[in-house]
Amino acid sequence: QAAPALAQTLAGERVVVSAGPTYEDLDPVRYLGNRSSGKMGFAIAAAAARRGAEVLLVAGPVSLPTPVGVSRIDVRSAVQMRQAVLGALPADIYIGAAAVADYTPRTQMANKIKKSSERLDLDLVRTPDILAEVAASEQALKLVVGFAAETENVAEYARGKLLAKRLDMIVANRVGIPDGGFESDRNAMTAYWKDGERDFSSAPKTELADRLVDLIVERLNA
Ligand code: CTP
Ligand code: CA
Repeated sequence: QAAPALAQTLAGERVVVSAGPTYEDLDPVRYLGNRSSGKMGFAIAAAAARRGAEVLLVAGPVSLPTPVGVSRIDVRSAVQMRQAVLGALPADIYIGAAAVADYTPRTQMANKIKKSSERLDLDLVRTPDILAEVAASEQALKLVVGFAAETENVAEYARGKLLAKRLDMIVANRVGIPDGGFESDRNAMTAYWKDGERDFSSAPKTELADRLVDLIVERLNA
């Protein structure tokens, strides 16, 4: 039995979603990465497409199939993700669900780093903040949504990022708890915007994505 057609509440909207981790290469065989399966971002891209949006998914290294009706660009590093995301503008909505590496090696070794001494110090530099750049873009979007993975002070840190990055909404989830977060198929989260918030209790990521996209449609029309 086919699922009932969803109301096409995002028809005509161009949505860019980033998902998954980024890998920052140290040498040809090693990288620094984030724990992220990409499931949440992929589920959001699928949910937006089901509502009639034109969806571009910019995906870090993940092993997930491309959702039906979604265009996809695969990237590896934070710098590549930035280029793909900014290159996808103008758009109406940006959803930054990727776990972007905050630091990348200052230099990438052309050859494998051999073990020599007892210690190895890595020289790392900050990556560009893709989400903040999109929010500050000249090509103004209707809605910019960020994510925040926090282990403590969830509301405080999330609201701090909402303000600092000038976002329209931020979706926070507590990581490091048994049920939810990384790699899991379930998750619980809270969305914050200027003058409101909404809790999403623990549910499968596909269901959460649907509820979150409903909220995005609400905020878009608010
Ligand atoms: N983000 C981004 N580019 C970066 C780092 C983060 O676009 N270089 C985005 C993420 O996709 C997410 C949001 O910023 O939507 C928040 O990421 P998070 O790691 O929680 O916050 P940071 O600003 O990186 O701060 P910190 O890691 O210190 O908590
Ligand atoms: Ca970070």
